[in-house]
Amino acid sequence: MSNIQFIVQPGGTVKGRIRVPGDKSISHRSIMLGSIAEGVTTVTGFLEGEDALATLQAFRDMGVEIEGPVNGEVTIHGVGLNGLKQPAKPLDMGNSGTSTRLLAGIVAGQDFDVTLIGDASLSKRPMKRVVDPLTEMGAVIATNEGGTLPMTIRGTGQKLKAIDYSLPMASAQVKSCVLLAGLYADGKTCALEPAPTRDHTERMLNGFGYPVSSEKLDAQQTKACLEGGGSLKACHIDVPSDISSAAFFMVAAAISEGSDLVIEHVGMNPTRTGVIDILKLMGADIQLENFHEVGGEPVADVHIKYAPLSGIKIPEELVALAIDEFPVLFVAASAAQGTTVLTGAEELRVKESDRIQVMADALQAVGIDAQPTPDGMIINGAEQSAQKGEIQSHHDHRISMAMTVAGLRAKAPIVIEDCANVNTSFPIFLDLINQVGMNVIAKEA
Ligand code: S3P
Repeated sequence: MSNIQFIVQPGGTVKGRIRVPGDKSISHRSIMLGSIAEGVTTVTGFLEGEDALATLQAFRDMGVEIEGPVNGEVTIHGVGLNGLKQPAKPLDMGNSGTSTRLLAGIVAGQDFDVTLIGDASLSKRPMKRVVDPLTEMGAVIATNEGGTLPMTIRGTGQKLKAIDYSLPMASAQVKSCVLLAGLYADGKTCALEPAPTRDHTERMLNGFGYPVSSEKLDAQQTKACLEGGGSLKACHIDVPSDISSAAFFMVAAAISEGSDLVIEHVGMNPTRTGVIDILKLMGADIQLENFHEVGGEPVADVHIKYAPLSGIKIPEELVALAIDEFPVLFVAASAAQGTTVLTGAEELRVKESDRIQVMADALQAVGIDAQPTPDGMIINGAEQSAQKGEIQSHHDHRISMAMTVAGLRAKAPIVIEDCANVNTSFPIFLDLINQVGMNVIAKEA
């Protein structure tokens, strides 16, 4: 595969009014639930990135007729809970952990065999976390040694058993996998999470007329439950803009003097807004305007202006609520006065890359004092050095985009290797980042 380098010129001011593409988590789920619903589901605002397209292709490969996407519009001819067909070949999940882990839950309920494969990054990521609960439910699953892809899920012809599962880690993917398998189980399946994680699966199942209960046991733990054997009714889904994509632009405006940016129609699901809370604690000037609701999800316009940031100790209860935003939050910390300390974030080590080590290396390469710890990072904010920074993205879209944003406070160009991966979640990133005032070119190396 060709190497697309991003060459980032230092400095810039961020201005304008933009809309970032649709939410990745919601886009995946719209295809999954639309496919196993009865009737025709229509989706608008669908993210046409490689990850969500991998999910779409997987359901086509299992016999679902799906039209689009055309300008974010998709039409899914649902086949019902039991209408999926055996795919002719392994399902290729590309770079996408969400596709893999959620699909595993759905596939475990089928009476045919399916093999899931992925790219170099995904093939290193842990799958035991979904294999364990699914095996408890009676699924028969084989993975590579070490619990990685390829993963083959056997159709046993037996109904799954409902379970009451305590998640060992705060993971919406594992929670969703268990709940989706629970659709195919006898009785009531529950997933208890140790800290709040994104609840799009629960919200969207309810939107498809499939009741999911959520009980808050205390400030941290929530138990989500559903009864197997019901049916989903097709509906319309309007996907809001992805707060995880908006985060790159929030930090861009927060760290560059004179900036003033509005990001429209951003998903404000409270299980996703940790990035805003953390930036505000650092002193960012963020206003949320035009709050309203689309299809069961809150949205707002995010208005952000430059203000000097200060280092903070990031509250651990915000970690799961901002889990995908840490690469760019580390960039914000690098531009802040003083020290920022992150703890309780060991999950960052098993994302598309080891985001603790990879971001510490990347920030050090531009002259920032960033010290990785087993479960987080300690960053002393400072000016970036005047030497050219050379960065590896390690197959991770969010490293490519976070280090592009770092260029706003750089004193010399930054060259980031292997950036085609931005297409997994944010195909128009480069256009938008140049539109708001940076100077970044993509070069085939
Ligand atoms: C996601 C859950 C999170 C997140 C990922 C998307 C989802 O993963 O990092 O990008 O859509 O459910 P974990 O469940 O591993 O925390």
